[in-house]
Amino acid sequence: MRIAAIADLHCRVNSANTIRPLLEGVEREADLLILAGDLTDTGLQDEINVLEGELAGLDLPIVAVLGNHDHESDQADALTNMLCSVGVTVLDGSVAEFDEVGFVGTKGFCGGFDDLFIHPFGERALKTFIQASLDEAVRLENALVKLNCPHKVAVLHYAPVKETLAGEPLELYPFLGSSRLANALDRHKVDVIVHGHAHHGALLGQTPGGIPVHNVSRFVRVRHGERPFCLLEV
Ligand SMILES: [Fe+2]
Ligand SMILES: [Fe+2]
Repeated sequence: MRIAAIADLHCRVNSANTIRPLLEGVEREADLLILAGDLTDTGLQDEINVLEGELAGLDLPIVAVLGNHDHESDQADALTNMLCSVGVTVLDGSVAEFDEVGFVGTKGFCGGFDDLFIHPFGERALKTFIQASLDEAVRLENALVKLNCPHKVAVLHYAPVKETLAGEPLELYPFLGSSRLANALDRHKVDVIVHGHAHHGALLGQTPGGIPVHNVSRFVRVRHGERPFCLLEV
């Protein structure tokens, strides 16, 4: 399967005719399109309406996860329903299968990496914050258990490894992802992982278990001289 992946569209109410050109050629070159979060800029239904217009007529399956920006207006459920109603498969701690390729996805969350992962210790506020990250990893793992496909693709918004954050300020790393996500994906031998969110990061990394990790933020790709979407084969 040829898979196109892009993140951080950040569609606004005035983005008509600016998103579709980013996907030029995608139908010819890919069998499926992944949107890895931050589909909208502030999570408004009007923004999703504009995005739907930009995606209209694209004749290939679309798999998406929401990003933090899609949660900004506390309308994530409504946005998900709107996307589902136009045929987009929105993964939220869930799985989908297309032609023997299994897709697992969730937004992910903050938390940090490896030995510097923030521990749920001390104030209640900090425990609540980091529990949200632990919960995302558990949801991802619970979803992975349900996948019984020869090939598996993971779709996240937050980064599962720090390698694809290279270029971001070090102080931001704990807010850009969590290695707990990578641990879950390594245990289930996923073929490839895509994420966005780190607009100033690097294109490619890998998990400790050797799974390739692609930062498909369109801003990162264009900055590195690539076209806005990434093409993968599984
Ligand atoms: Fe973003
Ligand atoms: Fe983001």
